[in-house]
Amino acid sequence: MTNESENHWSFFMSHWSFISITFLLNQEPTMKPLNIGLVGYGFMGRTHTNGYKRVNDFFPELKHRPVLKAICGRNEEQTRAFAEQWQYESIETDWRKLIARPDIDAIDICTPNNSHAEIAIAAAQAGKMVLCEKPLAMNPVEGQQMVDAIEKAQVANTVWYNYRRVPAVSLAKQLIDEGRLGRIFHYRANFLQDWTINADLPQGGAGLWRLDAASAGSGVTGDLLAHCIDTAVWLNGSINSVTAMTETFVKERKHNLTGKVEKVSIDDACAFLCRFGNGSLGLFESTRYARGHKALYTFEINGEKASIKWDLHDLHRLEYFDYSDNSLIRGWHQVHCTDGDMPYMGKWWVPGLQIGYEHTFVHQVADFIASVESGKSCSPTFREALETQKICEAVLDSAKCGQWKEIA
Ligand SMILES: NC(=O)c1ccc[n+]([C@@H]2O[C@H](COP(=O)([O-])OP(=O)(O)OC[C@H]3O[C@@H](n4cnc5c(N)ncnc54)[C@H](O)[C@@H]3O)[C@@H](O)[C@H]2O)c1
Repeated sequence: MTNESENHWSFFMSHWSFISITFLLNQEPTMKPLNIGLVGYGFMGRTHTNGYKRVNDFFPELKHRPVLKAICGRNEEQTRAFAEQWQYESIETDWRKLIARPDIDAIDICTPNNSHAEIAIAAAQAGKMVLCEKPLAMNPVEGQQMVDAIEKAQVANTVWYNYRRVPAVSLAKQLIDEGRLGRIFHYRANFLQDWTINADLPQGGAGLWRLDAASAGSGVTGDLLAHCIDTAVWLNGSINSVTAMTETFVKERKHNLTGKVEKVSIDDACAFLCRFGNGSLGLFESTRYARGHKALYTFEINGEKASIKWDLHDLHRLEYFDYSDNSLIRGWHQVHCTDGDMPYMGKWWVPGLQIGYEHTFVHQVADFIASVESGKSCSPTFREALETQKICEAVLDSAKCGQWKEIA
């Protein structure tokens, strides 16, 4: 051993008890575990897992630490590989076994839409907390059953409408609630993609379940407009009535599970008008056929005193027009949402440095844990997400019958 390494070693030995006591005092004894059992290791499985792993580093005030107890998937080899990569303690290949485990506190549902209800209801009945991906369910009937089960069991719950937790979107909510826009006249939202234009793209199975109505429930309405509706209702209040049109541009596609060419039953595109409870008018459009757009989620709100615009492609900026500004400098301002007094930003870097998409999931995990600790609900709850489901259903019904539909 060289002199230098001997010195390091003796330094470590003389300090080890101090280091370990300090570590123990500062860290572990104050943290309670929140044991997570996550179902589905796809896109959302990764974003949520990342949220659980990062949350305590940036929200040190939380008293619970998510523990990646078990990941559940149907393919054992792939599930094991995911567990190793993301450091889950164990795996399950049947979500029923996951729910039956006494060492799991919360079930996180990251599977396609047709499995949300069954898993969530069973988890609630077993007394587990439930975090469920959006859309809540395949339809409002199923959604109501989920709400009933969750509320009967009185378990903590939330639905991952994560765009609410983009700091600029949260700032929009703050500005509206402060009355800065005054009376609101218009709400406009788009969610545009272009990934299903190819008519040879099959439907169904891994990666393509969104094109199969049996797995997805609907097309862009439940997948994309559900996000726009959740944000809109959060920012601008309830929607009373809708009139919609939908189109399925490619009518038949080969089904990956049956191998046969089958009718396509999802909506490829949807546009709807609506009336909000506060008297404002809404205009929403979504499609997977807008060549050049990958995930263009935008909204604009026009009020009596001010307007707001936001664009997911530039998610850290909120555009703001204030009519009370001096006319010589009046115009659209770009608010770069990075200062520490802006929603969530005090938790991250220094002013001027932005955060991204993945942080919205860290924020939702943080808010969920805080809600568990305070006993308050974590919005959107299953009940709130059911409202969005009802609006989606009214949109699809209206498109079918060509009539205005009231929200039930
Ligand atoms: N909040 C958002 O912004 C957002 C974004 C994308 C997807 N989502 C939602 O998240 C959910 C999952 O979407 P995704 O993009 O992660 O899909 P994905 O296809 O990437 O992953 C789904 C996973 O679920 C697994 N799975 C399917 N059935 C299962 C079962 N019975 N048991 C265990 N595992 C099962 C699949 O094998 C796959 O690993 C959907 O409800 C979707 O609408 C939300």
